[in-house]
Amino acid sequence: MELQQHADLSRHNTFGIAAQAAYLATFRSVEELRALLQDPLVAKLPQLILGGGSNVLFTGNYAGAVLVNGIAGIAVVSEDAQHVSVRAGAGETWHDFVLHCVAQGWGGLENLSLIPGKVGAAPMQNIGAYGVEIKDTFEALEALRISDGSIVRFDREACAFGYRESFFKRAGRGQYVILNVTFRLHKAPHVLNTSYGNISDELVRMGVTRPTIKDVSDAVIAIRRSKLPDPTVIGNAGSFFKNPVVSTEVADRIAAQHPDMPRYPAGPGHVKLAAGWLIERAGWKGHRAGACGVHERQALVLVNHGGATGGQVLQLSEEVMQSIRERFGVELEREVNVV
Ligand code: FAD
Ligand code: EPU
Repeated sequence: MELQQHADLSRHNTFGIAAQAAYLATFRSVEELRALLQDPLVAKLPQLILGGGSNVLFTGNYAGAVLVNGIAGIAVVSEDAQHVSVRAGAGETWHDFVLHCVAQGWGGLENLSLIPGKVGAAPMQNIGAYGVEIKDTFEALEALRISDGSIVRFDREACAFGYRESFFKRAGRGQYVILNVTFRLHKAPHVLNTSYGNISDELVRMGVTRPTIKDVSDAVIAIRRSKLPDPTVIGNAGSFFKNPVVSTEVADRIAAQHPDMPRYPAGPGHVKLAAGWLIERAGWKGHRAGACGVHERQALVLVNHGGATGGQVLQLSEEVMQSIRERFGVELEREVNVV
């Protein structure tokens, strides 16, 4: 847990933005984390907890201490004939954890295959994909409260999960370090969730007639590889914006001019729109602004073609938001954490 000074952050963010942190260290246990937080150099500075850096945009150098979560370990905490509760250290790689669960025959996370990042960040925005969110199998997490070093247990209710939302992104922001997360998963026979998008089409393409959780995981991996840019090839942080939830009136007004517009139910009187569709319709898909741009296959993903600064990406995101406001009267909200 050596404290590095003037640390290069480019390998700590999937956007590949070149920035420096005044200090950076990796902790592998709660004891190492406590020691770091008490270090006189760290204690007087702002602190940023980082997992895989796949949902952050650095807009400049970070004049504080970046603390990278490296807490490992996967353990079964309880089980019965139908369920298993499994706890993962916050520094475990999310996708490896999902593959481990699939290999053990534990169902519930297979639709969330190939999401980048670490386990500890998953509750931050209640990660979701292909009809599943972590709140569906979440049991509890343990977090260190930075103000007094105590360890607090949060159940699902206390996390206040919503669409790409949680307590930790709102009231609890910057106050806790998530240490481990426990999921309640299902043993066979599994209830599969193949209704979303093109999972069932992909299973047919794969020649699968009686799918297992491994088949669903493989189908999701194939779909994601075909749609989303690989951050090791082209810098990005996944969807840059959330899909906006608007009133039925607003959705109907836009649909009157665009009958083909995708829309999803979002509770009484509300509709979720596809931000990628809005951005594409506004003409941004494949747009390039110097070294950054809008991805050519997924307009919801802003990309760094190489050498972009965080400020340039932020500026592009402003222009996209302005254009969607003017064109559709819809306000986009960033999903990525701007630092
Ligand atoms: P980081 O980027 O390191 O951190 C994200 C935020 O969480 C920061 O504010 C950080 O301070 C905070 N944080 C991180 N760890 C902790 C901790 N232990 N305690 C307290 N705070 C912490 N997301 C989805 O939901 N669904 C998708 O389908 C999806 N697809 C993606 C595809 C691509 C190609 C990419 C690049 C990203 C995608 N994402 C998706 C976004 C991202 O993968 C998730 O948000 C992921 O959970 C981020 O994990 P991380 O470890 O990289 O977090
Ligand atoms: N669409 C377009 N043009 C585009 C992109 C999308 O018209 O350029 C349309 C699609 O045709 C489809 C609709 O928009 O009708 C939705 O597209 P898609 O299924 O690709 O999903 P998304 O809404 O763009 C969301 C999540 C993703 C998640 C996928 C799959 C958000 C903000 N994004 O994307 O999450 O992987 O669904 O479930 O909710 C992330 O959060 O980083 C992320 C990648």
